[in-house]
Amino acid sequence: MYTNAPLAIPDSLVQALRQAQHIAILTGAGTSAESGVPTFREAQTGLWAQYDPQELATPQAFQRSPKLVWEWYEWRRGLVAQAQPNPGHYALAQLEQLVPTVTLITQNVDGLHQRAGSRNPIELHGNIMRTKCFAEDKIVTSWAETGDVPPRCPRCGSLLRPDVVWFGESLPYAALQEAQQAARTCDVFLTIGTSALVQPAASLPITAMEAGAITVEINPQSTPLTRYMTHVLAAASGAALPQLLQAVW
Ligand code: APR
Repeated sequence: MYTNAPLAIPDSLVQALRQAQHIAILTGAGTSAESGVPTFREAQTGLWAQYDPQELATPQAFQRSPKLVWEWYEWRRGLVAQAQPNPGHYALAQLEQLVPTVTLITQNVDGLHQRAGSRNPIELHGNIMRTKCFAEDKIVTSWAETGDVPPRCPRCGSLLRPDVVWFGESLPYAALQEAQQAARTCDVFLTIGTSALVQPAASLPITAMEAGAITVEINPQSTPLTRYMTHVLAAASGAALPQLLQAVW
């Protein structure tokens, strides 16, 4: 699926990374693909193959079929709990030891960056392992196991839901502000493993480019961003990132 062929890394990119004081990174589901977590737009398997994720990951779907949506997330939580960070996640965590400022912005909800050692990823779309009250929009860490599916908020009795951003919902304001500020001020912006189809995350690399940053896309496929990037490494992140760190530091 992914070749480990040596990557041709332009010398200008090596120099830019070596001199960078601030590297900002946007990751998408592709960075977790080599950990066995299906990307968002890959066909789902088994019981869930009949459902389109974009039909399930909405507040309307949850209000219409709370049990179905809760059980879909329970299935995905199970996948994520079994997954291990891959060499790409570890390379991004290691970057934080090598560069004065690294801002890791992720669209992923699987928490694998934290498990690989990234200190403070900005989770634009939340985290599937966290649960919140649908009505209060506040995190809930424990609830009575009454057999209700979904379980209910111990404070107000409303349904509990995963703490992830669904289609049609706004992103956490502070997280987005921090991500946009990093895109405006970084020296190098890496966009890794994202199809760049979902806003506002997909605009971050363009913001960085417009602010004069060197931009790099790491993705085996091309995306709407590819044509704007300073450099494109058409490779899997789990293979490319360790080679990139090896070549630069
Ligand atoms: N390494 C790097 N990129 C990869 C790899 C890999 N090993 N495998 C696949 N990819 C790329 C694919 O080519 C694709 O461009 O990862 C991208 C995955 O795209 P999506 O499945 O659309 O995931 P993502 O871009 O993260 O979706 C963005 O949209 O679906 C919503 O909220 C959801 O956070 C998600 C957001």
